[in-house]
Amino acid sequence: MTDNDLITTAWATRENAYAPYSNFKVGAALLSTDGQTFTGCNVENISYGLTNCAERVAIANAISSGISSFCTIAIVADTDTPISPCGACRQVLAEFNITRILTSNKSQTLIFTLNELLPRATTGILNRP
Ligand code: THU
Repeated sequence: MTDNDLITTAWATRENAYAPYSNFKVGAALLSTDGQTFTGCNVENISYGLTNCAERVAIANAISSGISSFCTIAIVADTDTPISPCGACRQVLAEFNITRILTSNKSQTLIFTLNELLPRATTGILNRP
């Protein structure tokens, strides 16, 4: 699975987003170290705070399949500049050591490390080197 494949999968998954309140659809595709791909889209709720972001849906999907070791996540949305994961999702990315983050809109892909998006995430409470 190349980066481009992962991004393409995220775009396809975005079509399944349930976003009637924001009308803002997000797709994610997560690559595990054993080469499997897990997908997620945002799932909103009338009680807005119960909304699940695409990234966390993809991670939950993988964890519920027994997979917890990851390489890369791709996140896509139709934005002017590539989307950036919310703070809550960054913390969950840190929990599962997802260190390579691709974010794309329709014309551009940016590549981040987890450390760029959430510095010192593993210092202290997570205690990972
Ligand atoms: N959303 C995501 O799914 N991922 C992000 O990285 C940012 C925001 C969702 C949550 C909500 O359904 C909608 O986008 C608007 O914030």
